[in-house]
Amino acid sequence: MIKSADFISKDSQYKNVFFETFGCQMNKLDAELSLGLLQEEGYKIVDKVDEADVILFNTCSVRQHAEDKVYSHLGALKTLKKRHPEVIVGVLGCMAQKDGEAIFKRMPHVDLVCGTRMFSRLPELILKIRNHGSPVLAIDEKQVVNIKRAVTYRPNIYQAFVTVMRGCDNYCSYCIVPYVRGREISRTIADIKEEVHTLVSNGCKEITLLGQNINSYGKGLDGGVTLGDLLTELNSIERLERLRFVTSHPKDMTFDLIKTMSQLDKVCEHLHMPAQSGSDQILKRMRRGYTVGYYRDLISYAKELIPCLTVASDFIVGFPGETDGDFQETVRLMEDIRFQNCFIFKYSPRTGTKAADLKEDVPDEIKRERNMKLLEIQKRISLEENKKTIGKEVQVLVEGASKSDPNRLSGRTRQNHIVVFNGLQDLVGKLVDVVIHEVTDLTLFGKLTNCL
Ligand code: SAH
Ligand code: SF4
Ligand code: F3S
Repeated sequence: MIKSADFISKDSQYKNVFFETFGCQMNKLDAELSLGLLQEEGYKIVDKVDEADVILFNTCSVRQHAEDKVYSHLGALKTLKKRHPEVIVGVLGCMAQKDGEAIFKRMPHVDLVCGTRMFSRLPELILKIRNHGSPVLAIDEKQVVNIKRAVTYRPNIYQAFVTVMRGCDNYCSYCIVPYVRGREISRTIADIKEEVHTLVSNGCKEITLLGQNINSYGKGLDGGVTLGDLLTELNSIERLERLRFVTSHPKDMTFDLIKTMSQLDKVCEHLHMPAQSGSDQILKRMRRGYTVGYYRDLISYAKELIPCLTVASDFIVGFPGETDGDFQETVRLMEDIRFQNCFIFKYSPRTGTKAADLKEDVPDEIKRERNMKLLEIQKRISLEENKKTIGKEVQVLVEGASKSDPNRLSGRTRQNHIVVFNGLQDLVGKLVDVVIHEVTDLTLFGKLTNCL
């Protein structure tokens, strides 16, 4: 067992770490946990690779583009590593899990490949490389991630993400996630509650529960617990103001859960529930396990119970076999549901998945066209929907200075709109009321009610 004191004495001069993370919110939270661990061991976080003794990339494999980006970042470090061979370069996360040993072959200057279930041992693995000078591969699939929250490094104390389950059992035919993140494992309600209590007593006001397939939370736990039970338990935590959860899978979303959502005052009126396509034929080939009709029924019921609900979705265009007719059905679904926002992706074949065996018959040109078309439609819908908030008062949790205008503040509504307004820094972390007077497709602009 390595004690922190030994660690610092052996390694105290190599404590600057540069960390860049790609991919989904899960990966971002894993990055926060990893950085927390490293900080506990005396590491300092730096934002330039030139100042770093350890350079780490937390990677994503969901599309080819995500992998290409990391390989290009790694390639760019070759000369730095030649000049400073003592600098440790590490690849963490999904691409590390997927490509393993092959990363060393393609990028011989990489020292560490650490998979999705091994990052809790990061300090120890880095020390091993320092002491022995040889590369380390750590992609054991049997490990279970269990990191004490106390060590998290996060930029904002008022909001936090909490993992409630890891992995995914769905095997949608296009998706690499189940292969790199492993089977679904849910944490117990007691465990999650304890973590949320700690966060709230440290000033946290908004919690977002995370799971690749969060609606199947509880599978495998004793007593048949569900996401509804978890939300109900957390809703009773005093001083917690807002609760969110992502990502919802339509197949596992239930009318019961929607009803529970509508009854819990802290659960925000927002759902991220990717439809992926508006065509039943394509959904079947994607192995999504629901029909467009079921998706529409879920949304109608949810909007009936929660009239101000906003819904976000993901769509994939150019999936093998997607005809113009299928695409038109996606357009129709978008127009009918009127999503708040949508993430639109061009299909990217992933080796090892079921869809990789299907003939890729949608030319890139068409994929690009369909992608543009959906983006255009969504932009118009977002603007039209946002305009409906003009003149209305919304509750905002203030997050900090606006990225586009540091003299103004920015925060989010319960429905997940971004709101920018004038105000003093001491409002950060507070819930304030803002009246909206102007909008774009992405942002609402307003005035604090007490400044009107
Ligand atoms: N677990 C979440 C999403 C995880 S991946 C869910 O099921 O909703 C995030 C998004 O990436 C997916 O919703 C999908 O739209 C997209 N995606 C996944 N694999 C892809 C692929 N091979 N090509 C293009 N987009 C993909
Ligand atoms: Fe991928 Fe489907 Fe699992 Fe989402 S539910 S992570 S898209 S396999
Ligand atoms: Fe990417 Fe891994 Fe998330 S593949 S989308 S970082 S689970």
